[in-house]
Amino acid sequence: MKKIIVLCVFAACAALAGEIPTTNLFESTPWILLTGSHEVGFNWMTTQPANSWLEYRQDTNSEWKVSFYSKYGLKDGNTLYHKAYVKDYDPKKPIWYRFVGTEVIKFKFFTAKYHPEVRSEEGMIKPVVRPDGSWTAAVFQDVHAQNDMYEPLLKLAGEDVTLAVSNGDPCHYFNSEEDIVKLLGIPLSFFAKKGIMATFVRGNHETRGSHARYLPNYITLRNDQYYGTADLGFARVLFLDSGDDRADFNKQYGGSIDFDPYMLEEGEWLRKEVASEKYKKAPWKVVIMHIPPQTGEDTWERAKPHFEDQVPTLVKAEPDIVICGHDHRYQYYNKEDAKKLGFSFPYVVGDTKPLERATVERLDVKENELALTVFRGDGTTLTNEVWRK
Ligand SMILES: [Fe+2]
Repeated sequence: MKKIIVLCVFAACAALAGEIPTTNLFESTPWILLTGSHEVGFNWMTTQPANSWLEYRQDTNSEWKVSFYSKYGLKDGNTLYHKAYVKDYDPKKPIWYRFVGTEVIKFKFFTAKYHPEVRSEEGMIKPVVRPDGSWTAAVFQDVHAQNDMYEPLLKLAGEDVTLAVSNGDPCHYFNSEEDIVKLLGIPLSFFAKKGIMATFVRGNHETRGSHARYLPNYITLRNDQYYGTADLGFARVLFLDSGDDRADFNKQYGGSIDFDPYMLEEGEWLRKEVASEKYKKAPWKVVIMHIPPQTGEDTWERAKPHFEDQVPTLVKAEPDIVICGHDHRYQYYNKEDAKKLGFSFPYVVGDTKPLERATVERLDVKENELALTVFRGDGTTLTNEVWRK
């Protein structure tokens, strides 16, 4: 008995000193985000502070490649949150992945000490683009913390979707790390569990709360930005950050936001983007942004610069479809209806909870055909539009 107590005390002391490695370093599912035409960002957690990196391959018989995240010359280390980019991603192939980690015992200069490397289980994400170049997106918006809507909405959209898009406002605000993980990381990992690639577009609620400014610590971005593009099959997709609907001086923020210069910077980028050959030559042009274009009296407080700078650029650029959320009211404007409002493109605005009224937008992109189908949580189909070239 005495011997057991001594052993237990010894084990407890060793554990306290970090001498015994944890048995479940990789407990959670990662969130895996498409961040460019040939780029994917992996985001994962460890249960203990660790140095951790990604191993991946796109053919089962090829060698595993390694990717770790580093910035300003420093590798990520001694942390619970990890990320890595794959910059040679082929969207027409599946991607297999696993994580390697060394749990940290001591992380000090001269005396860094780690437990032996351990590997997570392997996972696989199915190709985003099918062999014939077609692909299908399911766009979710304004889930606002009702995480149990993802599953039924995905079922309605069809489990053959190849890309799940979080188009803003999965949360009310991010006041803590827990908010980010629970309301963004875990929902996005739901798609990874099903082998579906996801991607993220920031809504205005992700700009709110004390932890909003730390969001990039937990997700991989597009060239370090929330906005960017991807060429997928026969479409060029623009993922835009529409900022907030409230102005920088709004009292609710207490002087903590500075969107005006940021949005103008994005506007400048957008002008270059739509003037590019890649945009002009793309067979289909798709825009996904959280806040819809608006006119007249229903314009939100943030009229400038999103609505007075970026939206006119889109009007000139004539995308084939613009997919939005934010209004909490389903709307679809075909090209003719949109024209009456001063816009040159058809656009759809998805609805929100409860599930019976929430919508998911399915976009099918093929060489000569683009199709938008909007499903409502009550089982009805609201829009079924097909464009052909
Ligand atoms: Fe919103």
